[in-house]
Parts: sequence; structure tokens; C-alpha cells
Amino acid sequence: MTRFRAINQRAPRRFEERDWLGMQIDAVERLRLYAIIVDRVTESVSHLLGGRADDPLVWVAIKAVFSGLISDRQDWELAETFYNSVTRRVFETVGVAERVEFVDSDFDSPPIPSRDPVYLTFDRRETTTGLVRDILTTFAHDVPFARLEADAEAVASRISASLSRPGALASVGKAEVVRTVFYRGQSAYIVGLLYAGSHRIPLIIALSHGDEGVFVDAVLLTENEASIVFSFTRSYFHVDVARPYDLVRFLRRLMPRKRLAEIYIAIGQNKHGKTELYRDLLRHLRSTEERFELAPGTTGLVMIVFTMPGYDDVFKVIRDTFPPPKRTTRRNVMGKYRLVFQHDRAGRLMDVQDFQHLEFHRSRFSGEVLDELLSEAAGTVRLEGDSVIISHVYVERRVVPLDIYVREAARPAAADAVVDFGQSIKDLASTNIFPGDLLPKNFGVTRHGRVVFYDYDELSALTEINFREMPPPRDEAEALLSDPWYPVGDRDVFPEEHQAFLGLAPDLRRVFFDHHADLFEVEAWRAIQDRLRSGELIEVFPYRQDARLPGTGASRGW
Ligand SMILES: Nc1ncnc2c1ncn2[C@@H]1O[C@H](COP(=O)(O)OP(=O)(O)OP(=O)(O)O)[C@@H](O)[C@H]1O
Ligand SMILES: [Mg+2]
Repeated sequence: MTRFRAINQRAPRRFEERDWLGMQIDAVERLRLYAIIVDRVTESVSHLLGGRADDPLVWVAIKAVFSGLISDRQDWELAETFYNSVTRRVFETVGVAERVEFVDSDFDSPPIPSRDPVYLTFDRRETTTGLVRDILTTFAHDVPFARLEADAEAVASRISASLSRPGALASVGKAEVVRTVFYRGQSAYIVGLLYAGSHRIPLIIALSHGDEGVFVDAVLLTENEASIVFSFTRSYFHVDVARPYDLVRFLRRLMPRKRLAEIYIAIGQNKHGKTELYRDLLRHLRSTEERFELAPGTTGLVMIVFTMPGYDDVFKVIRDTFPPPKRTTRRNVMGKYRLVFQHDRAGRLMDVQDFQHLEFHRSRFSGEVLDELLSEAAGTVRLEGDSVIISHVYVERRVVPLDIYVREAARPAAADAVVDFGQSIKDLASTNIFPGDLLPKNFGVTRHGRVVFYDYDELSALTEINFREMPPPRDEAEALLSDPWYPVGDRDVFPEEHQAFLGLAPDLRRVFFDHHADLFEVEAWRAIQDRLRSGELIEVFPYRQDARLPGTGASRGW
């Protein structure tokens, strides 16, 4: 925890020094930290316990003592998760060991009260501009604001516009703002709530650091916008907080529809987020009679994907073997998922948590799913009595596969999705990701209508791709061939024949082409590659262009 916090505490300096590479290195270091510490602790505990390390009774006693020891910690819930990780490592637990692990928390309510609220309160000021100026200067960096007064005015006028209702102009009564700034990539975020009369709205001020100093890049004032900033398709924030419990609950007031699990994950407590996801799953199984069914959509060659009708997540198990044209291996597939985990996900790559040794009663599976798992993934899934034991499964948010969405949505919504589909390919390119398989079946639509990518087995670094023009046919016979007559390497991609078109109805193809003709041009792809190769780190903002303040400049992405 101290090392975790130390990394978070470096973030303001990285921002002040515009050390974006350092920020990226910190992010990766932080993601690796947990496994390193769990390994070390597991080793020393096993050493201390000697032959008794695998005696469950010893652990029942340890758990009771541990529970007492963490009851005066501000981060007790993370401590429980950590303890679970160690015991699972010791026992290679299948399912959960109720007596040994904190399946449910020992604490229904916080064992110790908060010392201070997680937020600062800013009371009414003469003007909203004054209030915003106060907030900005309270969270100032060691670098001056480039244009404090103009920014404060611009933010205040956005706030007033968003609070004004027909017939009434509400003014801000007070603001509650999280004590510490959130950092991710090249941006810093001031996060809070505004109160105006009976209204309460989110306040997120996105800061950038340019040549002239720090400035407000955007202001976000709605639940949806907040939710997109904290999306499961973004890398985790660096935010230093003593009591995550309070922060997560405060954030939930901005985004009441986001699950606690996702908020923990968004602030970098992904292991505890996973605990919460698992608790959500148990609750769902207990409170419904739903069964796992195959996820709607095009069946995958690599993954068996299942879900429950009323559930927010899908479960993905890697098949034992992959039919042609797949030429990858299980190891490679897992490597791709790991790559995504550590990469800037740019709002377009899903967060994935992997679980080991899950156990469910066989009655919770439809016959179809169970047959498929046992016959196609026998290396990963086995039946023991009435228990289905899954040794490895990826869990991620459920979205509507884009192929289904464009077929079923009304035309305008389908057209919007197609435009965002093209933009998602460009956002990924800006962050040095080439999805490989550009077919709509590998993308999905979130509840905010955003298109995201979920099929990682053919993904690679954009800079590894060789974009080529198709050579002209040398004679008529060649022109008539449907297969290429020229040699094609593994990493060759021919943008002019991009497969993204396949599967889109003709009118939607036109929409795609009208907005994204450049996706079919070799030069455009190479231009992004050149920028990436020269070391440029391109930030894809988690908000729309119209949330940005005037004068903030064009976005640098594709
Ligand atoms: N997050 C998700 N939400 C909803 N459905 C999903 C999700 N992920 C996958 N699916 C469904 O499962 C199918 C297979 O998933 P995915 O594309 O990840 O597997 P794959 O085996 O790698 O596919 P491919 O054969 O295209 O390589 C998808 O076509 C889609 O219908
Ligand atoms: Mg697929």
C-alpha cells in the first residue's frame, strides 16, 4: 500500500514536469505491484508456518486475528482482498473457502469513522466565477495557470448555462470537491459535486499542461460525461487517497449507475474491484434463477462467451484448439489480454479481469453452454460431481455486439454507431493499437452509445503493421482472381480493401466511407505510424470536443 501510494503521489510532479513517459512507466509499475507483493508475502508466510501452511484450521485462526488487526485501518476492505489473494495463492483455492477467505466482508459498516471528509467544501461565493477561481487555485500545481481568470469565467458560464432551467436561473450554493486531484495520461481532473437549489450535478474540470502553463481543457457537468471519464474502457486513475471506501462512495454520488466494483477499478484498486465483482456475481446468482447462456452474437473461434440474461458482464473461456484461419496459441491469446491490461486503453478497449478456479453448480448452466465448455474447453473446465470448475475465465462488461446493433437499431442510431466505429479504429491507432480483426462482430456498443473493441487475439502494435498499396494486376487473368496473386506477409495490411466494410449494409457503408475515407488510405495510416515512431504520445480525450473550452486547440489524435 505504501508503494502504491508513493506511485500515486508522484503523479502531480509528472504533470508539472510534463513527464508523460514517466507517467506511463508509473502506470505499468503500479499494475505489476500487486502480484509482486502477494508473491513476497505468500512466500514469507509459508516459510513462517512451515509444515502448517496448508492447514485450513491455522488459517481460520489467522483470519480472525487479521480481521482484528485491520479494524483500525482506513483501507480495511483492501486488506481483506489482499488477505484473500494470499490464501488463494497458498491453497490454489477452488471456488471459495468460506472459513479461510473474506467472501463477504467482516465489516458491514466501516470499522472506524472517517477522520476527514474525502472532499473539501466550498461555500457560496459572490459569483460562480469566484467559486471556480477558488477551486482552481486550491488545486494549483507548481506551475502557474496560463489564463486563470479566463478559465474561471468560461467554466462558470458553462455551469450557469447547465443550471438554468426555463423560467429560473439557479445559482451555485456550494461545491464539494475531492481533496486530491486525479491523474491519467497527460491530464489532471478536479472532481466534485455542485449544489444549486434542489439540484446536484457533477463537476469535473479537466486540466492540461501546455507550453504556456496549466489550463482548463474541458468542463463536464453531467452524469453521462462523468461516467465516460470513469469508464471501464479507460486506464486506471492515479489518485492518492487514504480511505478509498469514502472516495468510491463519493464518486458514486456523481455516477449512481456505476457499480462500486467499477469505481474501485477506475481508481486503480482493481483487485478489490474484482472482489466486489465476485460479490455482485454471488448476489445475482442468489437473487435470481438465471442460468449461463451463450452470449448473443457471432460465435468466436477462440473464445466461448457466456452470460446471464439480466447480468452486466460476460464470461470468456479460451477454447482448447482454434480452427483455421486462426494460427495463434493459448499463450499468445493470454499475452494479448495482458498487453491490453498495461496499455493506454483510450476509451476503446474493455477492462478485463481474469478469475481462476471459479466453481458453480451445474444447474446454473444451460445445457448448450455446459456441453460447449466440456467439449471445447476441457483443458479449462471440468465437472466434479455437480460442480463446474473453471480454472481460468475472463470477465468483462457486456455490450451489444456492433453487428447486432446495426441490424436492430433505428437508422439514425445505427449510423451514429458506424461513425463512432470508424473513430474507435482511429483512437486505437492514435495510441498505437491495431485491432487486427476489424469486423463489426468484434466491436460492441456501450450504454452511452460508444463503440468499443473486445476481441484481442489479433491485436498488435500499430507500428508493427506494414501498410501496403495493392499492386496493380499484371494481366487480365490476375485481375479476375479473387485471391491475391502477390505475396502477402503476416503483418501486411491493405487499407484500400479494409474488411471493416464487410457486414455493413450498403447505406451504412456509405456513412462509414463519408466520415472515414482516410481509413482506406495507406498514407493516413503511415502518418500516424511516423508520429508514434518519433516518440509522440497522443492523448485521446475522454470527452467530446464540445466539452472543451474555446482556445484549447485542436485535439491531436487522428
Ligand atoms: N463484452 C462482450 N459483450 C457482449 N458480447 C460479447 C462480448 N465479448 C464477446 N462477445 C460475443 O462473443 C463473441 C466472441 O467473442 P470474441 O470476438 O471476443 O471471441 P473470438 O473467439 O476471439 O472471436 P473471433 O473468432 O472473431 O476471433 C463475439 O462475436 C460477441 O458476439
Ligand atoms: Mg470475435
